[in-house]
Amino acid sequence: MHIHKLEKIWLAIGIAMLALFLTVLGISTFAFGMAPPGGHHAIDPEKAQETAPFNSLGLKKLGDNSYEAVMLAFAFGYEPQTIEVPVGAKVKFTLTSTDVVHGFAIPRTNVNVMVIPGEVSHVTHTFDEPGEYLILCNEYCGIGHEIMQAKIVVKG
Ligand code: CUA
Repeated sequence: MHIHKLEKIWLAIGIAMLALFLTVLGISTFAFGMAPPGGHHAIDPEKAQETAPFNSLGLKKLGDNSYEAVMLAFAFGYEPQTIEVPVGAKVKFTLTSTDVVHGFAIPRTNVNVMVIPGEVSHVTHTFDEPGEYLILCNEYCGIGHEIMQAKIVVKG
């Protein structure tokens, strides 16, 4: 009888410890989901398309042959898919991702940045040579990674 009671107490303590452990685990998971340590969330990735400047995608004229290209990266593509600029155009790319981490690289240029959900990436390039420039994703992002691309047409 006495031993039986002691077992019950230990069982109760065990359950209490388990409950406490799961609560702590749950709270930390929740906290990490809300705000990863060290990460500043500029925008909500799921609402990126409704958040300025990404609520108005595409090319904006900033000055004399100077533009801003506002683009979204997502699995598995970019929006807009094609950007057209005159030769010599200086383009400031403003980028974010609506889902996972993507890349934004333009071969034959020094453009190569990570596009992180919740954050805004910038990179600027002047297109001195006419032609077609591919934008490629260089961060593995899933099954469609290899086909994720867009295009910049520089008109001479
Ligand atoms: Cu997007 Cu790889």
